[in-house]
Amino acid sequence: MSIIRSIIRSTGGYLPENILTNAALAEMVDTSDEWIMQRSGIKERCIAADDETTGDMAVAAGRMAMERGCVEAQDIDGVIIATTTPDKTFPSVAVKVQDELGLPVGLAFDVQAVCAGFLYALSVADSFIQTGKARRILVVGAEKMSSILDWEDRSTCVLFGDGAGAVILERGEGDGGISDRGVLSTYLYANGGQADLLYTDGGTSTSGDSGHIKMQGREVFKYAVQYMSDVVMEALDANNLVSSDIDWLVPHQANSRIIEATAKKLKLPMEQVIMTVERHGNTSAASIPLALHEAVFDGRIKQNDLLLLEGMGGGLTWGAALIRF
Ligand code: UT7
Repeated sequence: MSIIRSIIRSTGGYLPENILTNAALAEMVDTSDEWIMQRSGIKERCIAADDETTGDMAVAAGRMAMERGCVEAQDIDGVIIATTTPDKTFPSVAVKVQDELGLPVGLAFDVQAVCAGFLYALSVADSFIQTGKARRILVVGAEKMSSILDWEDRSTCVLFGDGAGAVILERGEGDGGISDRGVLSTYLYANGGQADLLYTDGGTSTSGDSGHIKMQGREVFKYAVQYMSDVVMEALDANNLVSSDIDWLVPHQANSRIIEATAKKLKLPMEQVIMTVERHGNTSAASIPLALHEAVFDGRIKQNDLLLLEGMGGGLTWGAALIRF
């Protein structure tokens, strides 16, 4: 029996030109390349220009995904943007992307689940396709994290970067088994009781501005390792898979030590893990689609490879997606 599957047709990515190295950061705050590398695995990150917005980056990544997939604007039914750093309180980044890419009238909205945002957006898009509400959706993770950093707080400002990653998800068919191409299953979680571990100290209806990132790093680290390990095992168990079935782990890029711990739990060699954290830092909702795009672009990820995407962020929110590319 044939069933509907949401297949990734193409990917796109965008990184700002300006690169901020650890050495340059060490001239701004009391830190060092050695500390940042040792604790997080980050060497440099890209920082958007003052007049470059999350929407601009999302448009660039979306345009690339359309070009690479040979998809015309009129053939896209909807756009979902995962972001925590929108251009404006409203309207959404999604309507700007819809307009600038010349997409037809259709569904367009933003999803806010911080670093797990892309997984949430992908899962929503998959559901729309499964239920026949749309045939082809542009899903983008885009962030200007530099705009919500306290550049005097060395415990956070060294960790984040800016960028955008995109996929075009389209309706396909499968027989319902794990050899189908497309999104095979997604897992989404949040625990609002842990909101004070990672948050901004402001917002539209409180301070009236976006505020700055505050994080209890050590606590977040502990939960990240636990939740990531649990959710990847859940994804495997639910599909009667073992770790050796996975071709590529595409994790959220917050910290190389968290990624290594997840790979270890999966008994997956690091050669099968997509790592961009060294050059991108933590780009929040953009990090998973950017990592995916890089590995598709350079030919590592190929059609029919089995991918496990996972990530965790403020909320705390976390999730995973099992996808046959
Ligand atoms: O994407 C959302 C999810 N976010 C994450 O997953 C992040 C999770 N957390 C982490 O990645 C790590 O906890 C950090 C990279 C943020 C920090 O690493 P850590 O090994 O947990 O360090 P720590 O916070 O325990 O701090 C150790 C020391 C402290 O000094 P004392 O108190 O031991 O004297 C900090 O003040 O390092 C100090 N420190 C720094 N030193 C140099 C904090 N930030 C810096 C810095 N440079 N940038």
